[in-house]
Amino acid sequence: MRFDIVTLFPGIFPGYLQQSILSKAIERGIVSVHLHDLRDWTHDKHRSVDDRPYGGGPGMVIRVEPVVECVEEIQARGDEPGRLILLSPQGKRLDQRLVSDLATASRLVLICGRYEGFDQRVIDILQPEEISIGDYVLNGGEVAAMVIIDSVLRLIPGVLGDERSSQEDSFSQQHGMLECAQYTRPRVYRGREVPPILLTGDHERIARWRQEDSYRRTRAKRRDLLPDPERPPEDDSTT
Ligand SMILES: C[S@@+](CC[C@H](N)C(=O)[O-])C[C@H]1O[C@@H](n2cnc3c(N)ncnc32)[C@H](O)[C@@H]1O
Repeated sequence: MRFDIVTLFPGIFPGYLQQSILSKAIERGIVSVHLHDLRDWTHDKHRSVDDRPYGGGPGMVIRVEPVVECVEEIQARGDEPGRLILLSPQGKRLDQRLVSDLATASRLVLICGRYEGFDQRVIDILQPEEISIGDYVLNGGEVAAMVIIDSVLRLIPGVLGDERSSQEDSFSQQHGMLECAQYTRPRVYRGREVPPILLTGDHERIARWRQEDSYRRTRAKRRDLLPDPERPPEDDSTT
């Protein structure tokens, strides 16, 4: 899968790209990440990408020409144009369903904003999908782009050591519930014991316990995710 990132701050990414799962995926040729500095598509000697808003008001707006020209040029590179995404707090809110859908693409082009955002004509001309990572405002789209790459990456075959990891994650399981509690050694710590059933080796009972725990914790923490959020609580004492 190919990611193209359009940004005013390409220097933000190298540390992230070197982190283990992503760097291994890049090394193995499963993923490639291409950074594009928007300033390379400016026409003046100051390489200016922003200007004051028409009508007045605070802050600066990213100009239309460098973004449109940059995106048109990079879309022409590679085997086929990518699915075009513009990071924006005004976009569709990212969730695991959207992440799964994005993971079916072979190429994503992610446009990161800064300042007050983009001249509206960027959106009118390029018609990108606008995606938000939540109802809050970041200083720039770079962190949001990393969130998209990071979440999509988990779903690309061959990226994780064991593909069951992403299948059993919260939101990904059957009915989109939270994942069950996990434990590792030691068996007892400060008087707190690992649920004995997990030590039995009885795979069927363990699987049932995990399903029930997943349901219990979803009901306690995120009732809205349940297929039947109105159903009255049952007995929780299954261990
Ligand atoms: C300071 S924000 C601009 C916010 C804009 N003035 C508004 O109120 O809608 C600068 C850039 O950060 C990115 N950004 C901010 N919050 C975001 C969010 N919740 N999700 C995705 N990108 C976000 C966008 O790329 C945006 O263009």
